[in-house]
Amino acid sequence: MTMPLLDTRGRPLRDLRISVTDRCNFRCTYCMPKEIYGKDFQFLEREQLLSFGEIHRLVRIFKDHGVEKIRITGGEPLVRRKLEVLIEMLAYHDTLDLTLTTNASLLKQKARALKDAGLKRITVSLDSLDNTTFMAMNDVDFPVEKVLAGIEEADRVGLNPIKINMVVKRGVNDHSVVDMARFFKGSGHIVRFIEFMDVGHTNGWKMQHVVPSRELAARIDEALSIEPIDPNYRGEVAERWRYRDGSGEVGFISSVTQAFCRDCTRTRLSAEGQLFTCLFATQGTDLRTLLRTEASDDEISDAIARVWHARTDRYSEIRTEDTAKQRKVEMSYIGG
Ligand code: GTP
Ligand code: 5AD
Ligand code: SF4
Ligand code: SF4
Repeated sequence: MTMPLLDTRGRPLRDLRISVTDRCNFRCTYCMPKEIYGKDFQFLEREQLLSFGEIHRLVRIFKDHGVEKIRITGGEPLVRRKLEVLIEMLAYHDTLDLTLTTNASLLKQKARALKDAGLKRITVSLDSLDNTTFMAMNDVDFPVEKVLAGIEEADRVGLNPIKINMVVKRGVNDHSVVDMARFFKGSGHIVRFIEFMDVGHTNGWKMQHVVPSRELAARIDEALSIEPIDPNYRGEVAERWRYRDGSGEVGFISSVTQAFCRDCTRTRLSAEGQLFTCLFATQGTDLRTLLRTEASDDEISDAIARVWHARTDRYSEIRTEDTAKQRKVEMSYIGG
């Protein structure tokens, strides 16, 4: 490794989140509302997507810049054909923390192949255990029970510990929060409650939809008794709390009420090879053209270094109802 790359705020580059497709088989109302992502929506064509070879080449270059953690995202990453082939290529770098975030709709069928390819652990998005609420949120009538079957299979093949991400929207699923905590308490899985964010510009975000983590923690504490604990590492996204009876932990991701930009070491690569230095970016840097015009590894490496050196992002620290209306890149495109 060369000198660690630092941005204008002294933050190193540590995590790379790679979107492998902009498609998803769900239409979560807060992410891919049907009115916009209907049958006429233009998703990326196959040849626009980075190939597995191109992704692997970039990963090697990012690793030389200090990246330690890779998260595969989408859209829904498991709808990308033969994803396990990419996992196998990346798992070759055994010092990388390699993981994936999925809606688990295809997890029951795919868990074994992913594990065999070298995936270490997995994060599953699940917004309610109440079927009516969940189906209304995914908006394709996908039942809770199939997500749970996917989680069970992932656990059985050893893709654990599993994290469960629940995006909480006031008046929509916040009544499900204590049930969710209770259901996974003692299972070894870690539920994380995510404040609804103003990602993109199509999800109709308003501050009144956000349930502050503080309020959720109080509700869970009242029912199940929890206390805060130290982070695993500096800059961890989720704030950790544990059950006082020793039966595991939960997390709170509070991008809205307690911004964590100060230690943000994450960069994001879209499925077509645009590099973004913030989840709320309005503009990216095209790496695909470099890949496809025979640039050398050094040239690509320099391009990445220039982007990171110039990085100033701290969106969550400066968010207002006005910035929320900006034309930001969509979650399904950049991968969360
Ligand atoms: P691990 O805890 O190591 O598994 O990783 P993680 O916390 O990054 O997990 P995950 O990818 O599941 O992130 C959870 C959610 O936190 C994401 O889906 C986003 O909603 C949010 N998130 C992650 N990184 C950022 C970030 O840099 N900025 C903001 N605002 N939100 C983020
Ligand atoms: N706010 C917070 N989290 C979101 N996710 C998707 N859209 C939003 C949003 N607007 C979550 C998904 C998934 C992860 C990739 O990001 O539920 O867990
Ligand atoms: Fe798909 Fe995840 Fe977006 Fe839901 S939140 S539409 S599962 S990408
Ligand atoms: Fe990082 Fe941007 Fe999220 Fe802040 S808002 S933590 S800079 S990705």
